[in-house]
Amino acid sequence: MSDFKIGILGFGTVGSGVFNVLKENNSEIHAKTGINFKITSILDLDQEKVTAITNDPSLLASNVDEVIKKSDVVVELIGGTGIAYEFAKKAIESGKYLVTANKALIALHGSELFELAKQNNTSILFEASVAGGIPIIKALREGLVSNKIEWVAGILNGTTNYILSEMKNNGLSFETALSQAQQLGYAEADPTFDIEGIDAAHKITIIASIAFGIPLDFKKVHIEGITNLQLKDVTYAEELGFRIKLIGLAKKTNNEIEIRVHPTLIPESRLVANVDGPMNAVLVMANMLGPTLYYGAGAGSDPTASAVVTDVVDLARSINHGSKTFHIPSNGFETSNSKGVSFKAIENISTGYYLRANFLDSAGVLAKITNLFAEKNISIDAMHQKMLKKDQKENDVIIVVNNALEKDINEIVDKIQLMESNIGSVVKLRLEEMAK
Ligand code: NDP
Ligand code: HSE
Repeated sequence: MSDFKIGILGFGTVGSGVFNVLKENNSEIHAKTGINFKITSILDLDQEKVTAITNDPSLLASNVDEVIKKSDVVVELIGGTGIAYEFAKKAIESGKYLVTANKALIALHGSELFELAKQNNTSILFEASVAGGIPIIKALREGLVSNKIEWVAGILNGTTNYILSEMKNNGLSFETALSQAQQLGYAEADPTFDIEGIDAAHKITIIASIAFGIPLDFKKVHIEGITNLQLKDVTYAEELGFRIKLIGLAKKTNNEIEIRVHPTLIPESRLVANVDGPMNAVLVMANMLGPTLYYGAGAGSDPTASAVVTDVVDLARSINHGSKTFHIPSNGFETSNSKGVSFKAIENISTGYYLRANFLDSAGVLAKITNLFAEKNISIDAMHQKMLKKDQKENDVIIVVNNALEKDINEIVDKIQLMESNIGSVVKLRLEEMAK
């Protein structure tokens, strides 16, 4: 192979990054592969933007068919599951390879697209769809192929991590921090996907499929975002030695799988607890290797484009060695690994918890609360009382437990909520040790 032709659909943050990576690193990549990677066609709604960046009007395409016709690989960087889905299908049905950074597309339509790719004797690669530039899919699919994966957990959304860091470190409001994340190109076109945890849920859906060899099933993810998180709890958690991060977690225990995304307290001594800004970090527990941590830029133009271009290069190398399709199956498993597997409802998970209740001080309140835990045989690891208004005797009570069943904790929360002296909504957050 002398040239490998690349067509780009969508020339925004990541699309323009792909152009930049190939421009900057062309000779390096050629030296490594012996292949010339050439962008042959670009489709975007804003043609002037494309020409301003590429300085080459001959690259402009007026429709998707033109891009497909001129390329070996179609790189979809439009986003979403509307036109991007239609274009992806068209490219595959034309027998072209597809590379995408679109986690929504893979999490929701991946199974169908992988099957379509098989039928058309082609392949789909999607490294940039999870954790931006970090090669976590490659690590799970190739680097850890000799291991059984027990769990994967991490910070999978750069926008929310940026917001939480800016609020905590620089005192920015939620709205200002979100607006900055949008300006910096980290956020999704619809940022509610970031802040409501949907983007992280798309990513953990993909991770679970690759880690455990199960079909992609977005509906199995329990999702809570950061919009209900209160700064007060971030502060209290810090006083207790924890940081709060939006964590995506997929765990397999005895053929039972739990997949969830929610704000999570993590002991401040863990590396993951100290990951700030748009950076991502993914911790993988493998049965032979033990824990490994993958850290890097989870969003942004060049970092994400780095993963996109790596997929293109991987494909071209595979093809250059005589393979028609990419040599590893999409989720890394030749045969399904889902026989006998079931999914845990959120009520049945066991983990750590942080609860905060707001009380008017009266005799016996703390005794009543501790009793509720004793009745369920749950040991309390820390309990703090914070006086809020001296004259009104209003207190916040914070309780931390290291391990309990969610169902039991929910019952306790309901009972605290009904206590006479309770004057607010009980806050429940989960706590994960994230390996020692
Ligand atoms: P952008 O919004 O910056 O870029 C998308 C581009 O597609 C825009 O230039 C848009 O044009 C163009 N577009 C929209 N509709 C069409 C259409 N019908 N035909 C041709 N072009 C179209 O998004 P990003 O680059 O940030 O994201 C692209 C993908 O990468 C998404 O799936 C995202 O989730 C994923 N991703 C993004 C990361 C990031 O850090 N930004 C990181 C990892 C993954 P216009 O602007 O004129 O609407
Ligand atoms: N909006 C996503 C994030 C982009 O903030 O992580 C990277 O997938």
